Amino acid sequence: AADEEVVGTVKDQLAKLFEESLRVTVPDQTDTDPLIAACNPRFGDYQCNNAMSLWTKIKGTGSAFTGPQPVGQAIMTNLPRSEMIESCSIAGPGFVNVKLSRQWIAKSIQKMLIKGIETWSPKLRVKRAVVDFSSPNIAKEMHVGHLRSTIIGDTLARMLEFSNVEVLRRNHVGDWGTQAFYKASKQRFDSDPGFKERAQQAVVSLQGGKEKYRKAWSQICEISRKGYEKVYQRLGIVLEEKGESFYNPYIPGVLEELGKKGLIEESEGARVIFIEGKKYPFIVVKSDGGFNYASTDLTALWYRLNEEKAEWMIYVTDVGQREHFEMLFTAAKRAGWLPPGDNSYPKANHVGFGLVLGEDGKRFRTRSTEVVKLVDLLDEAKSRCKAALVERGKAEEWTEEELEQTAEAVGYGAVKYADLKNNRLTNYTFNFDQMLNDQGNTAVYLLYAHARICSIIRKSGKDVEELKKTGALVLEHPNERALGLHLLQFAEIVEEACTNLLPNVLLWGQRRRQADSCCVKRLQRSCGNASIYLVFGQSTRYDILGEDSSHLQKDFDNYVWAH
Ligand code: ARG
Repeated sequence: AADEEVVGTVKDQLAKLFEESLRVTVPDQTDTDPLIAACNPRFGDYQCNNAMSLWTKIKGTGSAFTGPQPVGQAIMTNLPRSEMIESCSIAGPGFVNVKLSRQWIAKSIQKMLIKGIETWSPKLRVKRAVVDFSSPNIAKEMHVGHLRSTIIGDTLARMLEFSNVEVLRRNHVGDWGTQAFYKASKQRFDSDPGFKERAQQAVVSLQGGKEKYRKAWSQICEISRKGYEKVYQRLGIVLEEKGESFYNPYIPGVLEELGKKGLIEESEGARVIFIEGKKYPFIVVKSDGGFNYASTDLTALWYRLNEEKAEWMIYVTDVGQREHFEMLFTAAKRAGWLPPGDNSYPKANHVGFGLVLGEDGKRFRTRSTEVVKLVDLLDEAKSRCKAALVERGKAEEWTEEELEQTAEAVGYGAVKYADLKNNRLTNYTFNFDQMLNDQGNTAVYLLYAHARICSIIRKSGKDVEELKKTGALVLEHPNERALGLHLLQFAEIVEEACTNLLPNVLLWGQRRRQADSCCVKRLQRSCGNASIYLVFGQSTRYDILGEDSSHLQKDFDNYVWAH
C-alpha cells in the first residue's frame, strides 16, 4: 500500500521531513513553513533556509538559542531519520544542506519507471484553465506571429494537461471587427473617409444581427476557418473556436454590471474605463456605438470565470498587446472579478512573446514586404527535410509515404523547436539552415539521437521485459548520480515551467544542458545508465513538439533495462 501513495516532488518530500524537525525545534512557531531550495552542488543537493528568519522572530523572547547558526544546528539534529538523506551539513548563518542518498535516488527512479510517466507529473493548485491562443483574424492570412502563439499556446496547454489541469483550449478568432469586411479594401478604407464610415456602419449592422450582413459574414468566416483548420491539422493542434462574435450577446449585460459598479464613464462620446497610471482609458463602447476588442475581452473574461468556471486565464499574444491585457486585468480587479494581488486565484496572465526576425535583423517579411505566410514556412521546412533525406539515400530505402511522414515530422518539429527553445520574450531570427542543422540544439538532432537509442536497444538483444522485473538500477559514476537526481527533479521542472508559463525551462535548463552533454558522451561509448537521461529528455521534448510520446516512454524503459 505504501507503494501506491502519491509521493510528490523531491522538494515536497524533503519539506515534510523539515516540517517535523521545525515542530520539534521551535514548538511555539507553529505557522513556520519549511523553506526548501535547490543548492549549490558543492554543498549538497538541497538546503533548508529557515534558520535566519526564525532567529529574527525568536530572539529577545527568552529563547535558549544564541543565534541563527545554533537554530540551524538544531533543525539539522532534529531531522527525522530517512533513507532519503545521505548526509547533512551547516553553512553560513544556519543553512542546512542536504545530500540525498544515491540508493534512494536510484530506487525512486526505478519506481517511477515502472509506474509510468503519469507518476512524474506535478500537482498544481488549479483544476481548470483557459488557454487562449492562436486566435487569428478572419479574412487575413495567419502569419508568423500566429505561428508563435499557436506553438507556445499548444505547449502550455500540454504542460498543464500533463500536470492534471483541465485545459479549455480557446481560439479567440477575430471574427467581428471591421477587418471581417475590409481586408481586400484596406487601402480604400484608409484613403476614402466615406467608405471607412460605411464599413464601420456595416460592423454595427452585423453586430446588431442584420440578416444580410450575417450571411455575408458567415460565408467569409467559413472560408478562413477552412484555411486555419489545415494548418492546425498539419501541426497536430487541437483548439476549440469561440471567436469574438460568440461573446456578443453577453456584452450588454456585462457592461451593465460594470456600469452599476461605477467603473464606466463617458469620454468624448465613448464609454470608457479609466485605468490608473495609463495615458488612455480602456474604451468599452466606441463613439459610434460599436463594441470593440476591449468589450469582447471583458466579456470573454467574465464568461470564462462565471460560465466556464476557470481559475486561470492565460492569453498568448505578442508583447505588443501587453498594455491591452494590463488594462483588461486591472478593470477585472476593480470589478472584483479577480483578487487584487497577482498570486491568488482566480488568476489571469498575459503570455507575451517577441518578434520573429529575418536575416536582416528586422521584422520577418518576404521580398514583397508582405507578411510571411505560415503555410509557406511549413511547406519549405518539409521540402528541405525531404531533400536532405533523399540525399541520404532514403528514397531507395523507404516508401514514398515513409519519406513524406518523416519529412513532416522533422520539418514541422524543427520549426516548433526553434521557436520554443528560447525564452518566449526574446526576438529570434528565423533561419532554416540553423533549425534543420543535425548537430546543434535542434529537433533534428534530438530525433536522430532518439533513432540511435532505439537501435541500441534493438541490438542489445536483451529481453527487456524480463530485465524490467528483475534488474536493478545502479547509479555508480558521479555523472550518473547527477543525471538520476536530475531525472527525479522532472516534476519540479515541469511545475516551474507551468508556474512561470515558460516552456523553454522544460526544454533546456542550465543543469539539463550539462546533463545532456555528459550523457551524450556516454551514449557515444554506448554504455552506462547515464543515457537514460537522453531518452527521457527526448520523450518530454516529444510531448512539447506535439508528438505522441507513449512509444518513446516504452523505448525509454526498455533502454534503461537493456543495460
Ligand atoms: N486576434 C488577435 C490578434 O490576432 C489575438 C486575440 C488574442 N486573444 C484575446 N482574447 N484577445 O492579434
